[in-house]
Amino acid sequence: MASSKHILLIIGGGIAAYKASELIRLIKKSGMTVRCVLTESGAQFVTPMTLAALSENEVHTTLWSLKDEAEMGHIQLSREADLVVVCPATANLLAKMAGGVADDLATTLLLATDTRVLAVPAMNVRMWEHPATQRNIEQLTNDGIFVMPPGMGDMACGEYGAGRLPEPETIMTEIHRLTASSDASHDQSELGSNPLDGQPAFAPDQHRPLHGKHVLVTAGPTREPIDPVRYIANRSSGRQGFAIAAAAADAGARVTLIAGPVHLPTPAGVMRIDIETAVEMETAVHEALPADIAVMVAAVADWRADTTSGQKIKKKGAAPAPLKLTENPDILAGLATHDNRPELLIGFAAETENIVEHATAKLGRKACDWIVANDVSGDVMGGAENSVHIITREGAEIWERLPKPEVARRLVKKIAEEI
Ligand code: C5P
Repeated sequence: MASSKHILLIIGGGIAAYKASELIRLIKKSGMTVRCVLTESGAQFVTPMTLAALSENEVHTTLWSLKDEAEMGHIQLSREADLVVVCPATANLLAKMAGGVADDLATTLLLATDTRVLAVPAMNVRMWEHPATQRNIEQLTNDGIFVMPPGMGDMACGEYGAGRLPEPETIMTEIHRLTASSDASHDQSELGSNPLDGQPAFAPDQHRPLHGKHVLVTAGPTREPIDPVRYIANRSSGRQGFAIAAAAADAGARVTLIAGPVHLPTPAGVMRIDIETAVEMETAVHEALPADIAVMVAAVADWRADTTSGQKIKKKGAAPAPLKLTENPDILAGLATHDNRPELLIGFAAETENIVEHATAKLGRKACDWIVANDVSGDVMGGAENSVHIITREGAEIWERLPKPEVARRLVKKIAEEI
């Protein structure tokens, strides 16, 4: 257990502020200490007294406390933490953070801190979807802030959509992950759903080699509709691609993850775009350009139905009409000849035999820079481990069979060396 970790929790002014109490309880239960900073509007929703009682620490509310400044200056307050968590991060607080505004204790601490910051947004769906908020999120992710995606569901204001605060247990998983690097004794059972299994690729205090780079990752299968209820798909789980996106974010990159339908949480600090079909994936990839690095992990369906029925196709007692297929665009090959071609373009190849030979041929055919060839002769697709060869123009590297998060960490380190 991570007993020595210290969290600085900044509580913004939103209805979700009451959930900070539960988060404090979980942080304390995991053996960490927590100190709270409450914004002026946050104090409209929870009282300093509640937070002080739960955290067993003094609660800080103002920049202008002579007593606080004498005992612990605000710079020190921002630096003594292993992780700063902003929860709930309101649209206003996120906008101030993105703009570098420092007009109260919370925003001053956020500007002064040199530790990792995890922002947990919660707001009305329209506010979340507003281009200004999305711009701010992109800016913050670019600046190396880890932004958790909000949950979907009913809102306190009566509307429905994205903007709900994630459950405190989910936030706790991210807190564990972001504080875990120096703490290999972590309770892994709490971290199972995270693509990097709780171990960041780069320690919080380490140089983050992809800072300032935009990494584009495609992951998961695509789903090609036949009619409103049927589709063509494959067994890809998305785990390898999500782990690569998480490792790239840990390395300081701004990451856009274009994901097919999978049941995986979005890694912290990653901008995720969900798509269903190959054509949608191609459009999302092009819209996400320019990127410095693209890692195309998705198992894109090679074909789609030539025509899609608007109604469910009925059984008629006789053999159905044959399904006519059309080839999907090759997104990787298209990116290789695009005007905005990423500096480093990496493809994946699922092979069952003659891996190096086939993957080397694919490197030439798709005009990419590296091919990560997976040996899918066993249970790799959907499984927890991967057995890969890295094919570059210089030759082939054979990696031993490794857990997918470890493949992701090593690949991102190799990318960082190359870039
Ligand atoms: O041709 P193949 O499917 O074996 O190529 C695999 C690589 O090409 C992967 O990187 C995959 O993401 C990418 N790909 C693609 N668009 C397709 C098919 C594959 O980007 N339509």
